[in-house]
Amino acid sequence: MKHIFLNWKQNGSFSSVLSFLTDFKNNPNYNTVLFASFPYIQFASGKITVGAQNVSSFNNGSYTGEVGADMLQEMGAKYCLVGHSERRMLLNESCFQVNQKIAQLKKYNITPVLCIGETLEDRQEKKYLEKITKQMKIFTEGVIVAWEPCFSIGTGIIPTSAEILEVSTFIKQNYNTEILYGGSVNAKNAKEILNINNVNGVLIGGASLDVKQVNSIIYDSNGN
Ligand code: PGA
Repeated sequence: MKHIFLNWKQNGSFSSVLSFLTDFKNNPNYNTVLFASFPYIQFASGKITVGAQNVSSFNNGSYTGEVGADMLQEMGAKYCLVGHSERRMLLNESCFQVNQKIAQLKKYNITPVLCIGETLEDRQEKKYLEKITKQMKIFTEGVIVAWEPCFSIGTGIIPTSAEILEVSTFIKQNYNTEILYGGSVNAKNAKEILNINNVNGVLIGGASLDVKQVNSIIYDSNGN
């Protein structure tokens, strides 16, 4: 079953989650997961599969502001993003921390979604497979990989289908994992991306806040 992961980032409110859930039409042929901010996870749990966007890298203790994997489990989270490029770039999240977060999530049976992706510079210098290999050093079995080229996030710039096929095939050949594509996915381009060989789903940011686009993706992408 293909994954449709909705990354709401630091957006939403109780009323917008409620109206999303009221209008959302689940399609059992897809695994649709809402990655909302911490306050909304428990609120949405039970009405849609829920995930978190972050987790503490520590066991419980004196870590002000952090949210532990055990707490996420109690809230009903089944998945958690780790290593999103926004966190790597804006919050200096390191591979070391991401690795610790994966370990915490596994302890509580939450599936980690490891976000990786090259910069435009890496791609122009043809170093993208090198960068991906470096970021995949912390990969372990049971982790889903979300490949999101940094220059595609929120920009409307999408790699060609051939480029997506190249990277998804490279990852599939070297690691035992499912692969999601992320970066500027919307109702217009989702179908083509979901049909690329080796792509097991999509991670959608901006367009995921629009329930009409989400419904259209899960109902029109393969005609059922
Ligand atoms: P975008 O974000 O769909 O708005 O490009 C994707 C993401 O950052 O996960």
